[in-house]
Amino acid sequence: MKLKTITAIAAALFATTAIADEDAELVINGDLEIVTKTAAPAHLSDALDEIMSGWRFRSDGTQAMQMDDFDNPGMAAVDGAAEAWATVEGEKGKSCASCHGDVAESMVGVRAVYPKWNEKAGEVRTLAMQINDCRENQMGAKAYGYTSGDMAAMEALLSVQSRGMPVNVAIDGPVAATWEKGKELYYTRFGQLDLSCANCHEDNYGNMIRADHLSQGQINGFPAYRLKNTKLNTVHDRFKGCVRDTRAETFKPGGAEFIALELYVASRGNGLSVEGPSVRN
Ligand code: HEC
Ligand code: HEC
Repeated sequence: MKLKTITAIAAALFATTAIADEDAELVINGDLEIVTKTAAPAHLSDALDEIMSGWRFRSDGTQAMQMDDFDNPGMAAVDGAAEAWATVEGEKGKSCASCHGDVAESMVGVRAVYPKWNEKAGEVRTLAMQINDCRENQMGAKAYGYTSGDMAAMEALLSVQSRGMPVNVAIDGPVAATWEKGKELYYTRFGQLDLSCANCHEDNYGNMIRADHLSQGQINGFPAYRLKNTKLNTVHDRFKGCVRDTRAETFKPGGAEFIALELYVASRGNGLSVEGPSVRN
């Protein structure tokens, strides 16, 4: 076991029996090759040699659902969002398509580089923030709830346009301070269990925790369709669940802490393919 300095209570949570096939390769629809394991980005070289998508840690049955879009329950939401893309909403009488045209042309590669710096606004923007900025300020429409089904579906539609492309989030320049803040959060121990993200997803990936096979907690697969709650889940929903599992008060979805954490966690996946919408348990 690669247990590091964690409390005895926390250590008792982990066991080493692995069940899933960590060596499987993901090819979607028989032709779209997805990089689910690759060399860790330079900034992680002290911590990890290799980075792996959460797909590698799921059971054969769950893995299979992501290998064909007809079996991927997250794809229904993509169809819904494609309709929303072309639907006029708000005071300005516009749809996403009015300005951006065909989503399959205008949005290629976008998901791969978010969160990213927005020069005009002078802020780090997640994809969800950008979608809502367009809804409110470009369309005069109501913002989607940050972790709502509509938001998750729109993120899935955008994600599909980048599937197979490498995650390539910038960590320097104007985003550097936010990235450092996210990194600090990742290594901070939370809650009664006194566990950090790293205690589970860096020190113990590959091990079992209760009935779950621990992954590296990557977000290249988001939004993720979870069999547990039978819907698409956003990144901040997942962060919230994980912080709660340590029995700590969680941060607010869409708040500064989770935005910084999202940037940092995204950068830990630089080099993995965008694979959302993914299927997880
Ligand atoms: C007590 C252990 C534990 C801690 C601490 C923890 N997680 Fe998790 N996390 C899990 C488990 C269990 C899962 C579900 C199995 C898996 O994918 O690892 C999970 C899943 C995830 C996933 C989904 C991965 C995927 O491919 O679907 C992400 C992202 C994630 N965690 C991020 C985080 C972040 C960020 C933190 C720190 C705020 C954190 N986790 C803290 C246990 C933990
Ligand atoms: C009135 C025109 C307009 C409408 C309508 C509009 N957008 Fe935008 N969108 C823009 C502009 C302009 C930018 C560049 C904004 C910036 O850099 O601040 C942008 C940027 C984006 C980006 C970031 C692209 C990148 O390369 O980083 C995304 C994603 C996006 N829009 C999604 C949407 C979605 C989804 C909708 C519908 C809900 C939508 N937009 C509606 C004008 C529009």
